[in-house]
Amino acid sequence: MSSTLPKDLIRPEVESLPTYNAGLALDRFKDIYGIDCLAKLDSNESPLGPSPRAILAMQNAAKGVGRYPDAANMALRQQVAKATSSTADHIIFGNGSEDLIGALFRTVIRPNDKVVTICPSFGLHEFGAMMFGATVTKVPFNDDWSFPIKGLCAALKDKPRVLIFSSPSNPAGPVISQDEFRQVIAATDPSTLICFDEAYVEFIEPDKQFDAMALLQNSGRPWIVLRTFSKAYGLAGVRIGYGIASDAKMITALMKTRNPFGVNALAASAASEAMADHAHLAKVVKQATVERERIAAALTAKGFTCAPSQANFVFFDTGAPADVLAEKLRTKGVLIKAWLEAPYKTWARVTMGSPAENDIFLNAL
Ligand SMILES: Cc1ncc(COP(=O)(O)O)c(C=O)c1O
Repeated sequence: MSSTLPKDLIRPEVESLPTYNAGLALDRFKDIYGIDCLAKLDSNESPLGPSPRAILAMQNAAKGVGRYPDAANMALRQQVAKATSSTADHIIFGNGSEDLIGALFRTVIRPNDKVVTICPSFGLHEFGAMMFGATVTKVPFNDDWSFPIKGLCAALKDKPRVLIFSSPSNPAGPVISQDEFRQVIAATDPSTLICFDEAYVEFIEPDKQFDAMALLQNSGRPWIVLRTFSKAYGLAGVRIGYGIASDAKMITALMKTRNPFGVNALAASAASEAMADHAHLAKVVKQATVERERIAAALTAKGFTCAPSQANFVFFDTGAPADVLAEKLRTKGVLIKAWLEAPYKTWARVTMGSPAENDIFLNAL
């Protein structure tokens, strides 16, 4: 069929964006490769799934889905407020934290604005901003995979509209230290919004954890911290995440740019129960942290270089174009994520699945 689209209908910023490098769903995998996926290790999902309490909550909530959910997500916001010593007017929920990243850029970015992030980075931190005409400066990690504090501080001199990065970093895995984070905050101009993405915060070893929100709160800078239920809480399929911001005014603005009913009733009920099930979370974190040590050691023994991970995945240099290796692994029923961002195109990210799935990956490799 020939295209009926006028030549200039799609904004050039959108047309030039790459397609999001999403993981492959299990049913699509079977359609394409004709075999069952034996180890789905491409999207940093939890092999233990959600808390059984969250599943029960969704079953109960299913009876009420004839009604719209609470667009304000007030019960959830109050629950998070209690757990984080914040207040509901500083908290927002979204259809996954990626929904909030989108809302954030829609809210603050004007064409030609500057945004600073790190490299390699979670794709939406870069492309979400480019979508609105921003110029994104990506500061590469140091060679030893420590956070590039010097480079970030230098880039922040340009007073970008937004500084956005995750710690632990996706896809690399390292975590910023308290002292480093202090330096970055101090180098940030008060006109720059700091977006600190804590999608993998639950997996950080106790001796590397610190209260980032407390540091931000005392900084006098505008900030937002993002968290998700897709990773440690095992709820990727229902799409729910949240943000806590320095200003209630920021939350009011994000509520306008977010999809009003983006948080569906099943997701809301599941998140509430998942947050309350500390035992399930502890089990997930224990397994992922034990496995990341084991798999990193096994990869190192096979001669691969690994970045030090504090998340539920390991980033490693395959020594050749990673997409070729990832494709070969797919034919053996193993899904990992080949990184497509220069200069990391020989690197791949493998999620910590169950011990059995991780063994299948190692054997296939
Ligand atoms: C760093 C980071 N932030 C945000 C997200 C988005 O998570 P979700 O939209 O599932 O909450 C991801 C997902 O992979 C991520 O890795």
